[in-house]
Amino acid sequence: MPRTLLSGWILLLAVSVAADPLVIAHRGASGYLPEHTLAAYAMAYAQGADYLEPDLVLSADGHPVALHDLELDAVSDVRAHFPDRAREDGKHYVVDFTLAELRQLRIHERIDPATGEARYPARFPVDLGDFRVVTLVELIELTQGLNQATGRDVGIYPELKFDAFHAAEGHDFAAIVIEILERYGYTGPDARCIIQSFEPEPLIRLREEFGTELPLVQLLGENAWEMNHVDYEPMYTPEGLAAIAEYADGIGPPITRILTGSDAEGRPQISTLVADAQALGLVVHPYTFRADVLPEGVTFDALLELFFGTIGVEGVFTDHPDLAVAVRERMAARDSEP
Ligand code: G3P
Ligand code: CA
Repeated sequence: MPRTLLSGWILLLAVSVAADPLVIAHRGASGYLPEHTLAAYAMAYAQGADYLEPDLVLSADGHPVALHDLELDAVSDVRAHFPDRAREDGKHYVVDFTLAELRQLRIHERIDPATGEARYPARFPVDLGDFRVVTLVELIELTQGLNQATGRDVGIYPELKFDAFHAAEGHDFAAIVIEILERYGYTGPDARCIIQSFEPEPLIRLREEFGTELPLVQLLGENAWEMNHVDYEPMYTPEGLAAIAEYADGIGPPITRILTGSDAEGRPQISTLVADAQALGLVVHPYTFRADVLPEGVTFDALLELFFGTIGVEGVFTDHPDLAVAVRERMAARDSEP
């Protein structure tokens, strides 16, 4: 790391940890095991994560399953297993397969479907293991079972993916998910379940139509990603944040909207987004902290210390829960020194 950059960061790191920032296991301990697999969730639990995060999409028969994409091609052997089931664009959509069919697939480490190359070559090998798709129900039962066995109270942090797409396919995603959550006792603000979405509509419906008191987090993206119909730019303004505060309890922005760069002396440049949101009572859970994908010249620990300490976010989504827990513990121990 250049000396100027390092010294710039050190100037900003000698601060206390914010009160118990949450470590949210992003797709499980996905830095170590294929994302969204039961193994990845169990590992994240054992590593001390506070919440286990599943992205959710729906099967043809309406079961929420833990997968990130609408399509199966990047994380499974669907092409070999169901060669005739792609849509015209050549992709296999989760919503075209029943849960029984999805269970036949081997889930593997993420690849680029165009090349077959691993997205993260240093992570778990693509061709090893016999991992299977995980339903929301299975994740809940794993979490609640481990909570009973360990005496801990780890939560779940489900994300409703592509609500508008699922509505066009004839599914009421919010209704399906809230029914499962309530059936498993996730009903109040302290129920250790936070619901997130990149789309405002399902969150607003969950609050107003279904009357849920579970904490809701509005994810913020970039318009350039073109993954949703949402215009994110206004959401980053104080007025946009105030509108979010009408129906949600927090925001989940990308790291780059908070840490925007470094100045000539190497000092991190920090936007007003966290302060603006917290002034409205919103918690801030930025994504995604990966030990193997870092800003140039910055360590994972320094990045986490900046966000836990100087910036003071209330939680982080991370592929490496063990490392984030370790940073939090180290900061807390330092704070308690006489
Ligand atoms: O949900 C927070 C973070 O996971 C958002 O990014 O694309 O990994 O779901 P993504
Ligand atoms: Ca997510």
